[in-house]
Amino acid sequence: MLRPLLLLSALIGLAGAQETVSDSSVLDISSFPITFYGQKYEKLYVNINSETFTVCFNNYFTLEKSQDCIVGPPVDEGSVKFDTTSPDTTSNQMIRDALPTIKSDLKGFVEFFVSYEGSKIQMLLGDYGTQAVLVFLNTHLLKSVKVFNVVVSGETVSTLNIKGRPSYNDISGCRHSGVLYKPGAVMSSDPETCSSLVCSETAVSTSTGCRPTERCAGNNICILDSICTVTGPTVIDFLGQVNSVDDRCAYSLMSGSSVPDLNVLANFQERRRKDVSLLDSVTLRLNKTGVHIQLEQGGRVQVDNSVLTLNSSAQLVKGVELSKDQTGVTAKLLISGYNTTVFFDGNTAQIRFTGPAGKDPSLQGLCGNSSSSLSEARLPQYSASNQSRGTVLTLCCVSPPSCTMQYTDTADSTINCNTSTERCNLLKEAPFTTCHSHTDPTPYITACTETLCNYPAVDGLNCQFLEAYARVCSLRSNDKLVDWRSKAGCSPPQVFCQDRICSAHEFCAEKTVGGEHSCLCRAIFASPYRLTGTFGEPTVCDKNSGSVTLVGCLLEEKGIDFSSLHLNNQTCTGQMNELTHMLTFNFDSSNTCGTVATAENNQLIYKNTITTQNSSSDNIVRHNQVYIDFSCFYTLPDIKTMAFKIKDSSVIQQIVSGAWNYTLSIKAYTDAGLTQAVELSTEVQLDQKIWVEMKTDGLDAGLVAVVTDSCWATNQASPNGSLRYDLITKGCANPADQTVKVVGNGLGTSNYFSFNMFSFPRSSGDIYLHCKLNLCGRQNKSCAPSCNRAHRRRRSARMKYENEAPAFITMAWTN
Ligand SMILES: *[C@@H]1O[C@H](CO)[C@@H](O)[C@H](O)[C@H]1NC(C)=O
Ligand SMILES: *[C@@H]1O[C@H](CO)[C@@H](O)[C@H](O)[C@H]1NC(C)=O
Ligand SMILES: *[C@@H]1O[C@H](CO)[C@@H](O)[C@H](O)[C@H]1NC(C)=O
Ligand SMILES: *[C@@H]1O[C@H](CO)[C@@H](O)[C@H](O)[C@H]1NC(C)=O
Ligand SMILES: *[C@@H]1O[C@H](CO)[C@@H](O)[C@H](O)[C@H]1NC(C)=O
Ligand SMILES: *[C@@H]1O[C@H](CO)[C@@H](O)[C@H](O)[C@H]1NC(C)=O
Ligand SMILES: *[C@@H]1O[C@H](CO)[C@@H](O)[C@H](O)[C@H]1NC(C)=O
Ligand SMILES: *[C@@H]1O[C@H](CO)[C@@H](O)[C@H](O)[C@H]1NC(C)=O
Ligand SMILES: *[C@@H]1O[C@H](CO)[C@@H](O)[C@H](O)[C@H]1NC(C)=O
Repeated sequence: MLRPLLLLSALIGLAGAQETVSDSSVLDISSFPITFYGQKYEKLYVNINSETFTVCFNNYFTLEKSQDCIVGPPVDEGSVKFDTTSPDTTSNQMIRDALPTIKSDLKGFVEFFVSYEGSKIQMLLGDYGTQAVLVFLNTHLLKSVKVFNVVVSGETVSTLNIKGRPSYNDISGCRHSGVLYKPGAVMSSDPETCSSLVCSETAVSTSTGCRPTERCAGNNICILDSICTVTGPTVIDFLGQVNSVDDRCAYSLMSGSSVPDLNVLANFQERRRKDVSLLDSVTLRLNKTGVHIQLEQGGRVQVDNSVLTLNSSAQLVKGVELSKDQTGVTAKLLISGYNTTVFFDGNTAQIRFTGPAGKDPSLQGLCGNSSSSLSEARLPQYSASNQSRGTVLTLCCVSPPSCTMQYTDTADSTINCNTSTERCNLLKEAPFTTCHSHTDPTPYITACTETLCNYPAVDGLNCQFLEAYARVCSLRSNDKLVDWRSKAGCSPPQVFCQDRICSAHEFCAEKTVGGEHSCLCRAIFASPYRLTGTFGEPTVCDKNSGSVTLVGCLLEEKGIDFSSLHLNNQTCTGQMNELTHMLTFNFDSSNTCGTVATAENNQLIYKNTITTQNSSSDNIVRHNQVYIDFSCFYTLPDIKTMAFKIKDSSVIQQIVSGAWNYTLSIKAYTDAGLTQAVELSTEVQLDQKIWVEMKTDGLDAGLVAVVTDSCWATNQASPNGSLRYDLITKGCANPADQTVKVVGNGLGTSNYFSFNMFSFPRSSGDIYLHCKLNLCGRQNKSCAPSCNRAHRRRRSARMKYENEAPAFITMAWTN
C-alpha cells in the first residue's frame, strides 16, 4: 500500500505543463497514442458537464453510437488538468507487476488530474503499443466510491468502483465483426481450412492456420504437403518463393536430412536463345545405390543411362515407382516417412513432398529455399550433356565452355512484354480464382511474366505456366478447375514431344506450321554455324576419299528434308546417324558419286555437290534448293632447283596436299626390270641404257594418273641451265633421240622412261636431270599422251592433262 503512494509522488513530480480542460475539448495525444480494444487513437474528446466526466477516443460530439469512452461522475469545479508524460521505469514496473497480461513496456502516459470532494485523484491511460492500461491513483483520498464505466462501441464492458486501492485495468483487446475479444481468445475458426483468427497476447488480430508447407486435410488437421514447380528458367519453391536460373548447369532441387538418400536435380539448357536456359531434364540421384534416374523430354526415362520403356502401370525400379501417361512421367518414392513425387512433362517438373505435419522438414536445394544462393545448389561438374543422349559434337580442339558461362543474344522483336503480362494475369481471373484460397497465383504470374518477356511464347510456353498452376490447384483441392483451357486457348496436357528423341545438342520444338514436332539446334551449338552460314563441318579428305558431315538440326530449321539430298550421282545419298542426327556424304575411288575433277592453280580438285532431288519432270520448285559444294584436292610440291647427287639414286619428296597425302620419287636403274638401282658405286658408261622411274605412293589409281610431261638434262643444278638436252617433251619421247622410250605414261600412278647415257661436250661437270610431272584426273578421260603424230592431235579435246597440276622433280648425276 505504500508503494503506490511513492509512485504517485513520482508521477506528479514528473508531470510537465498541465492543461486545464473544461466543457468540451479535443486533446492531442499523438505523442502517446492509445490502442483501445484494437483501435488506435491519437485524439481524445473530453466532455465535462454537471452529469458526467467523459473521455472518448472517437468523436463524442458527432457520433451517436459506437463510442469508445471512459465515463465517470461529474468533477469538482467543472474542470480537470490534462498532461502527457514520458515513461519511467518505476511506473512501468508497478503496472507490469499489477497486470501480468501486459506483455510490452510502457511508452508513455496520458494523465488527468481529477478533483472529487476536494481530493485530487490521478487517471492515467498508459500507451503500451498494441495494448493499453487505465489506472486510477491516489484513490485512498476519496471519501465515497466513484463509478467509472469503460464503454466500447457504445456498450459498457466494465464498471470500475474507485476508492481505496489503486485501480489497474487492462483495456487491451481485439474486435472482429463488432465483437470484442480479450487477448488470447479465438475470434473465429474454420476446421475445413484449419484456419482461425486469434486475438494475440498483445491484443493483435492474428490468423493462424497450417504452415506454408502444409495443407488442411479438414477437421483442423494439417498435413505436410508442399509442391515445388520448376518450369522454364524459374523455380517456385515449397514456400512459394520464385527464383530463376540463368545458366546451363545442373541444380539441386531437393536434398537434406529428411530425405537422406535422395537428391533431385534439375538440368537447365538453352533452346532457342543463347541467353535463356530452360528446364531440360530432371535427375533423381539415389545416393546409397548410386542409381541415376533421368526424366527427359519426350517422356523418356533413363536408368543409369539405359532407356526404360514405361507405361501407365507403375514399375518399381531400385525402390522408385515409375509410371508414364499421356501427360508425363512420374517417379514416386518413400523415404523416412515422407513421400516424394516427381512429375515431368518435358517442360515442367513438379515435386510434391508429403508427410506428417508439425515440423518443418529440413530441405536444401532450390525447392527448399529458392532465394538461397544459386551457387550453393549448382553442380557444374554434373552436366546433363554427359548423359548418353547422342554424342555431343564438339568442334575440334575447343573444350566445351563452362555451364556458368553467360551469353548474350539479340532482342526478339516478336516479344511484347505487355501482351505477355496480360496473358500471365489470366491467373488472377476466373476460373483460376477457385484456387486462390489455397494457392497464391502471384509466384506463377511472376515466373510467367519474367519468362515470356524474355523468350518467345512458342513450344507451348504460352500455356506452360497456366498449366503448372492448374496442376498444383488440382493436387491441392478437389475443386475442378472448369474450362480454363478453352478460355486460355490451351490444348489438353500431354507429354511434350512424345517419342521424339533429340540429340544432346538439339531440343524438341513445335513447328510453326502444322504443329508437328521436330528437333531443332540449341542456340549456342548452332551459333558458329549460323555465323558462317554453314550446315556442317569442313570436308574431310582422307585416304583418297572425301566426306562431308551436315548437322541434321541445321537442315531441319531451314526446312530441308535430308532424305531428298544426294551427291551428283543421285544414288549417293547421305547416311543419317540415328544418335547424333548427323548426315554424312562420302565418295571414294570405288564409288566416285559423280565427283568432277578439275585442275586449277597447280591443284587437282575433286568436287562434288550435295543437292536436292531434281526430278526431270518438275518444272517448278516446292522446296528450298540446296547446293553445297565440297571438294578435295591434290596440291603439287613446289620443288624448285634441287639437285641430288647420286648417293642413293632416289629422290623422295613428302607431300601433304590438302588432306590427301602422297609421296613422289624418281629413281634410276641399270636394267629394264627396274631391279638394279644406280648407286654411288655404280659405274655408268656413256651410251649405257638407264631406266628412270617416276613413282608415287598414296595416290588413288582410280582417281588420278601421273603424267611425265617433260624431262631434260642440264649441266647445272638449275633447270634453266645454259646447256639443255630434252629427253621428253609434251609427254612424249624427244623424236630426235631414238634411244628415249617412255613407258606407261599417264596410265597409272607410276611410269618410267629409258635413254642412253650421254654427256655434254666441253663440259666435264655434272649432269642434272629435271622432270616435270602432272597429275591428271582419270575420270571419264584418258590421261595418256598421244605421241604418234602428236602435233596434229595435240589440240584435241582429249589432251587435257597438260594444264593439270604440274610438279618438278629433279635428279642429278655426277661424273
Ligand atoms: C551420400 O551419402 C553419404 C552417406 O550416406 C553422405 O556422406 C554423402 O554426403 C551423401 N552425398 C550426397 C550427395 O548426398
Ligand atoms: C506395361 O509394361 C509392363 C512391363 O513392360 C507390362 O508387363 C504391362 O503389360 C504393360 N501394361 C500395359 C497396360 O501396357
Ligand atoms: C505415401 O504414399 C502412399 C501411397 O500413395 C500412401 O499410402 C501413404 O499414406 C503416403 N504417406 C505419406 C506420409 O504421405
Ligand atoms: C532463404 O535463404 C535466404 C538466403 O540464404 C535467407 O535469407 C532466407 O531467410 C531463407 N528463407 C527461408 C524461408 O528460409
Ligand atoms: C506497354 O505498356 C506501356 C504502358 O501501358 C506503354 O507505354 C508501352 O508503349 C507498351 N508497349 C508496347 C510494346 O505495347
Ligand atoms: C551412279 O552410281 C551408281 C552406283 O555406284 C552407278 O551404278 C551408276 O552408274 C552411277 N551413275 C552415273 C550416272 O554415274
Ligand atoms: C602423310 O603420310 C605419311 C606417311 O604415311 C605420314 O607419316 C603423315 O603423317 C601423313 N600426313 C598427313 C597429313 O596425313
Ligand atoms: C627458269 O626460267 C623460268 C622461265 O623461263 C623462270 O620462271 C624461273 O624462275 C627460272 N628459274 C631459275 C631457277 O632461274
Ligand atoms: C563423263 O562422261 C559422260 C558421258 O560421256 C558425260 O555426260 C559427262 O559429262 C562426263 N563427265 C565429266 C566430268 O567429264
